[in-house]
Amino acid sequence: MAAFSSRSTTLIALAVVLAVLGGAVEAQLSPNFYATSCPNLPTIVRQGMAAAVQREPRMAASILRLFFHDCFVNGCDGSLLLDGTNSEKAAGPNANSARGFEVIDAIKTQVEASCRATVSCADILALATRDGVNLVGGPTWSVPLGRRDSRAAFQSLANANLPGPGSSLATLIRMFGNQGLNARDMTALSGAHTIGRSQCRFFRSRIYTETNINGTFATQRQQTCPRSGGDTNLAPLDVTTADAFDNAYYTNLLQQRGLFHSDQELFNGGSQDALVRTYSTNPAQFNADFAAAMIKMGNIMPAAGTITEVRLNCRTPN
Ligand code: HEM
Repeated sequence: MAAFSSRSTTLIALAVVLAVLGGAVEAQLSPNFYATSCPNLPTIVRQGMAAAVQREPRMAASILRLFFHDCFVNGCDGSLLLDGTNSEKAAGPNANSARGFEVIDAIKTQVEASCRATVSCADILALATRDGVNLVGGPTWSVPLGRRDSRAAFQSLANANLPGPGSSLATLIRMFGNQGLNARDMTALSGAHTIGRSQCRFFRSRIYTETNINGTFATQRQQTCPRSGGDTNLAPLDVTTADAFDNAYYTNLLQQRGLFHSDQELFNGGSQDALVRTYSTNPAQFNADFAAAMIKMGNIMPAAGTITEVRLNCRTPN
């Protein structure tokens, strides 16, 4: 009896320790995470993204950027999707810039109708990103799932962790390094700028003051991005094939037609020149490295101790 009670005490103690650790220890993500709990999930997300991209091809780009901005701020935890004054949406890199939230909301509504309180907003964003990229011509990959949503946003981390368009190569390598991503991952992920649009305010200084820029390209961009005013006027990130996910981002860089200072930093006589050349001639290599780096970025976990849940509405904690 004494032996039994001491063993059950040990088991109870062990259970308590495991429960406490449970908050900090992250389960491994798996592509099969919702295979039985929400078998229609991939179809629902794919259909939602297909409709959104058909309405507006740019939406593939906008959703892809949301995933990047979510994952770099306390991991891929859906924290970017929360509304409010202390939200990440209101942080410098996102305010009047991040877009596409209503597409995630619409998909979430469909997912909730099919599998209530089961699939995290963070996982919906990861899947929607993969489908958007693929729908506009990019590679596909199997998305590890099982992320949970944070209950809070991290506005100051959003201001600190996301690189700006004036960043140097050293800064880009350091900021991606802080997230566990190496220079090769950084250069592959930057290929995301083969789709989407930018506001004039982010590339104005480059097209008027920089010298490592193709003259015809600079003049072309100046037509819709004046020296003053027109801050929100849009230009394609990829001047060659604006809405197609291909390797033209890298062929543009070879011709000094990168839109942002930070883009051209990848091909400006530095450590990434050789890899940019490789991606410019080998689209299959780019696609493979991009998909691998997306999975790696998608595996960035929230800090230990982050309180998480499966949010019912992506804009508010439960
Ligand atoms: C390397 C550092 C990066 C910098 C400095 C940067 C900066 C920017 C800026 C300034 C914009 C324009 C936003 C606007 O006009 O509102 C933009 C757009 C975009 N970025 Fe990045 N970005 C970087 C990396 C990435 C990565 C890693 C991804 C995804 C994997 C990404 C995906 C996109 C996409 C798809 C757009 C277009 C969004 C749209 O059309 O709505 N970027 N980026």
